[in-house]
Amino acid sequence: MSGIFQEVIDADERIEPRDDMPDAYRKTLIRQIAQHAHSEIIGMQPEGSWITRAPSLKRKAILLAKVQDEAGHGLYLYSAAETLGVHRDELLDALHEGRQRYSSIFNYPTPTWADMGAIGWLVDGAAIVNQVPLCRCSYGPYARAMVRICKEESFHQRQGYELLYTLAHGTPAQKRMAQDAVDRWYWPSLMMFGPPDTESTHSAQSMAWKIKRHSNDELRQRFIDMLVPQAEILGLTLPDPDLSWNPSRGHYDHGEIDWSEFKRVLAGDGPLNAERMSHRRRAHEEGAWVREAATAYATRPTLHPST
Ligand code: ACO
Repeated sequence: MSGIFQEVIDADERIEPRDDMPDAYRKTLIRQIAQHAHSEIIGMQPEGSWITRAPSLKRKAILLAKVQDEAGHGLYLYSAAETLGVHRDELLDALHEGRQRYSSIFNYPTPTWADMGAIGWLVDGAAIVNQVPLCRCSYGPYARAMVRICKEESFHQRQGYELLYTLAHGTPAQKRMAQDAVDRWYWPSLMMFGPPDTESTHSAQSMAWKIKRHSNDELRQRFIDMLVPQAEILGLTLPDPDLSWNPSRGHYDHGEIDWSEFKRVLAGDGPLNAERMSHRRRAHEEGAWVREAATAYATRPTLHPST
């Protein structure tokens, strides 16, 4: 079995749901895809709270569309995970019981409207850099789901950039609000790429299986290199005094990331971990009737037109 599996991986072809695959490959994919799906649906919360407070109809329509896209991404990803033989109910139970993770980034608060811009530019920007290579992931259903997700993430990133640009070129108070949001989201967005390569437990195996195509640090560096010129156009400052172009590396050098903060958030002690989880559990319980109704509708006896 693993002979054929390895041949497919070596030939850079796709593993499909009915193909034989090592148990550990299946388990790794379920872990990563489930974590990704959970991140999408928990990720609706920080922005969802601003839909009723958006400053114009245009901004409200954009935000609503974006949050709906995130729900859609969650659904594609749960479907992709189900092709590996798990049911989404099991995955949601694992999330609600704290046995599976979601991205650290969604445990931070969104106190101002400028946070909508910073999330779009930085959080969705980081998501794109991380996820474009996943379009070439060795597992077919995950790779195909990522194609559409990345197209939508690209719209999310642009709307955030445009929102921040508008604020940064508005009144002095609006510019301060934009800068404050960037100051708060910059470092957590760098943590989205995961721990440093030296501490990444899964990277080596996931890269050998071509689930991951680049290491956490490589993608983080790519993201920083992309942000610096964009921040200049925005007229905003990235809150890292050590950022400087290193011609010999061909990359920006940057300051130390506070990995103790990352560990705290992963351990459940971030600013809003408890709130995010209790909101999610409540939404799930209150949505039970919708799932029951949808199941009853799907399994209803079909009436013959003449009866
Ligand atoms: N937030 C929460 N947990 C994280 C994060 C993070 N930002 N980064 C890493 N971890 C966890 C891993 O899940 C792993 O946990 P485990 O050992 O308990 O299973 C541990 O930290 C060690 O990390 P790695 O070995 O580096 O894990 P991995 O190889 O899975 O790489 C990464 C992490 C880069 C996030 C990878 O899983 C990935 O690319 N996932 C798909 C993208 C994704 O989930 N994006 C979600 C946010 S984007 C959005 O929703 C808009």
